[in-house]
Amino acid sequence: MALLGIDLGTTAVKALLINEAGETLASATVDYPLYTPKPLWSEQDPADWWRGTVEAIQEVLAKAGISGSEVRAVGLSGQMHGLTLLDRDGNVLRPAILWNDQRTAAQCDEMVQRAGGMLRLRQLVANPPTTSYTAPKILWVRENEPEIYARIAHVLLPKDYIRYKLSGEFATEVGDATGMALLDVRNRCWSDEMLRLLEIPREWLPRCAESHEPTAQVSEAAARETGLAPGTPIVGGSGDQPAAAVGLGSVREGIVNVTLGTSGVVFASVEHYPPIRDTAIEVFCHAVPNTWFFMGVMLSAGGSLRWHRDVVALGHPQLVARVSGETAPYDVLLQSAAEVPIGAEGLTFLPYLTGERTPHRDPLARGAFVGLTLRHTQSHLARAVIEGISFGLRDSIELMRALGLQVNEVRAAGGGARSTVWRQMLADIFQADITLVNSTEGGAFGVALLAGVGIGIWRDTREACDAVIRVTSRTSPSSDPTVRAQYDEAYARFRELYPALKPAFVRAAA
Ligand code: XUL
Repeated sequence: MALLGIDLGTTAVKALLINEAGETLASATVDYPLYTPKPLWSEQDPADWWRGTVEAIQEVLAKAGISGSEVRAVGLSGQMHGLTLLDRDGNVLRPAILWNDQRTAAQCDEMVQRAGGMLRLRQLVANPPTTSYTAPKILWVRENEPEIYARIAHVLLPKDYIRYKLSGEFATEVGDATGMALLDVRNRCWSDEMLRLLEIPREWLPRCAESHEPTAQVSEAAARETGLAPGTPIVGGSGDQPAAAVGLGSVREGIVNVTLGTSGVVFASVEHYPPIRDTAIEVFCHAVPNTWFFMGVMLSAGGSLRWHRDVVALGHPQLVARVSGETAPYDVLLQSAAEVPIGAEGLTFLPYLTGERTPHRDPLARGAFVGLTLRHTQSHLARAVIEGISFGLRDSIELMRALGLQVNEVRAAGGGARSTVWRQMLADIFQADITLVNSTEGGAFGVALLAGVGIGIWRDTREACDAVIRVTSRTSPSSDPTVRAQYDEAYARFRELYPALKPAFVRAAA
């Protein structure tokens, strides 16, 4: 017996097989290209997604040494927000426009205007649109490619295109649907009012399920291509962020998770739909019925550290001398950061190297080192970068606390979570325990669990998480009160800099 989770990422698709104890049987990853035909554009060919998915499924079955008939259910996850357009016959009309495409600033403004303001938008679809979201991409196609717009019969999100190819069904689920800015997030159904205001036909949209619900079955044709058995159920699944949260067991209010990848995501389950407020925190439907989540997205978290390693630190004799066979440059950077005092002796780094999404919805925000003196060494620079990323994440934690959330435990995932130095820093900066769990397979693992729930292996998603996910490490805030005070002081310095530098960022971007 096996469960299959598929995570359609931005650079690759991953197929993961687990058994009912939650143990990994095998995984396979297949890459595909990303196209930037114009500045600000980011597109992919849905045919590449499907080719990659077929290959990944065949490979994971071969690696696990099982036949497709042993796979009892499939869960789908993937990059969120991307616009995939099909005609009446199911043909793809143009390359998919992805979540990190930045062409739709004008259409985001148009949505606010059509809705009659931000407040009304929040009432209708929970979040004011960002250039990531799907609805402004639909408006862009209407305004710029009317001949394509005229042929649209179906609008799908990336993972839901894979569902269509696997089954012939048009379906999505509430988590990914939230990121279209067309869902009534409170009532977990399409917003007829938003669709009317934007003049988008409701028939274009797929059926919208809960994440654990079976939505489709593998077709004969897809079975022949992939090796899965015809009739295998496919559950709703979810977007990559909620799916990864399920994979970390972040499915109850009080548990928060932070993912330190290229971007940094702060994610928290909430068990009541929050009152409408003007906040930079986004509110989405979670993969658990009657549960939502708060999300803060830092665009360059690990991305800032990678930039620092490649552009500032690497090639510098101090770092090169310390990188031996076993110690990777990141470990050296983190160790050297631990050698200088909290606050890096007055040096502060702002991590907005690719603009920012939370807490500053500002594509023009920029990175900065502020407070440099002759005293500062490579170690101070490294410390300032890691503190700056951590402070930017604390901004999201503080916004969530301001919305009434208790933050006691933060589950860490992603490359940065492997560092004990960084975990201690996060515990001290967030004033919360930082934990690790036994599962590290991300969104593919989360939707494999949802697939198990869908066919009744577990009663519900919380039970599935309780059955297979365990905390394996816990880092608590330092008991020395001066540590907290020093970080609070450095954080206060960090907080002052974005508003002070904003005019300079606008000029720099021009
Ligand atoms: C979520 C988001 C990203 C994408 C790509 O809102 O923009 O997580 O799903 O990974």
